[in-house]
Amino acid sequence: MSSAPQLLKAPTTVVLTGGTSGIGYDLLGRLLDGGHKVVVIARRASSLSPQPGLIPLDVDLADIAAVRAACARLAADHTDTTVLINNAALQYPAQLTDPDFDPRQMEAEVAINLVAPALLAQALLPTLRHHGQRAAIINISSGLAYFPKQKTALYCATKAGLSSFTRSLRYQLESDGTLVSEVVLPLVDTPMTEGRGTGKIGAAAAAQAILAGIAARHETIHVGKAKLIPMLSRLAPGLGHRILRGS
Ligand SMILES: NC(=O)c1ccc[n+]([C@@H]2O[C@H](COP(=O)([O-])OP(=O)(O)OC[C@H]3O[C@@H](n4cnc5c(N)ncnc54)[C@H](OP(=O)(O)O)[C@@H]3O)[C@@H](O)[C@H]2O)c1
Repeated sequence: MSSAPQLLKAPTTVVLTGGTSGIGYDLLGRLLDGGHKVVVIARRASSLSPQPGLIPLDVDLADIAAVRAACARLAADHTDTTVLINNAALQYPAQLTDPDFDPRQMEAEVAINLVAPALLAQALLPTLRHHGQRAAIINISSGLAYFPKQKTALYCATKAGLSSFTRSLRYQLESDGTLVSEVVLPLVDTPMTEGRGTGKIGAAAAAQAILAGIAARHETIHVGKAKLIPMLSRLAPGLGHRILRGS
């Protein structure tokens, strides 16, 4: 049995991107209830109702200069951080074949979904490494990283990139004992998926499963139907692609 400590058991400081909506909002409530201090990074972070432990930081993660400034602030002011949760993401439901698809939307998707998580992780590395086995970097990915759909091609690609990035970073931090986890989510009922899809799980169920997976130090946290992905990838990848293609 591993002697590594259970994560998020004792109050600590968590940096959470995208705590203003959907899964991130539910994670925020649970973390604050658990007595943690939470630095929320989002465009509308300061619109959250003030609560003990909540530290809002208004940042547009599509703006790399703003991300760099936030990184400097985190590294200087939040050296007690032990957990980074890269949760914020953007998904434009368009196809490259749509004549009015604005290429700037693709730039924003890559910046928010892939570049910002890497920059935040790098900025917090000295702090996190200092905490060794008590530290964790959690990247919120998707089943679409493994089985992309027809629409939102770049969103799927950023999640595949985040999945690969998570594994490489895990190798880099292996000797520190820092947990580097990928959360593989199914369809969750949030503003991101409003008006589309069926069989969604609620944001509360997703948040609960994510926190349980972190506490148990799982390197990959498959949530709900996403638990089928390893089996589909191994035994019936063609079926997986067919199911998710039109999702
Ligand atoms: N919902 C699903 O079915 C599903 C499935 C698989 C994976 N996921 C993943 O789960 C995570 C949470 O998604 P969700 O469904 O909860 O989405 P959501 O309700 O749309 O929330 C997205 C969050 O990201 C933040 N965000 C968006 N653009 C931003 C920007 N430019 N700068 C800073 N923050 C920004 C938003 O905050 P502001 O608006 O305040 O900036 C918001 O808090 C994402 O990584 C998503 O890819 C979701």
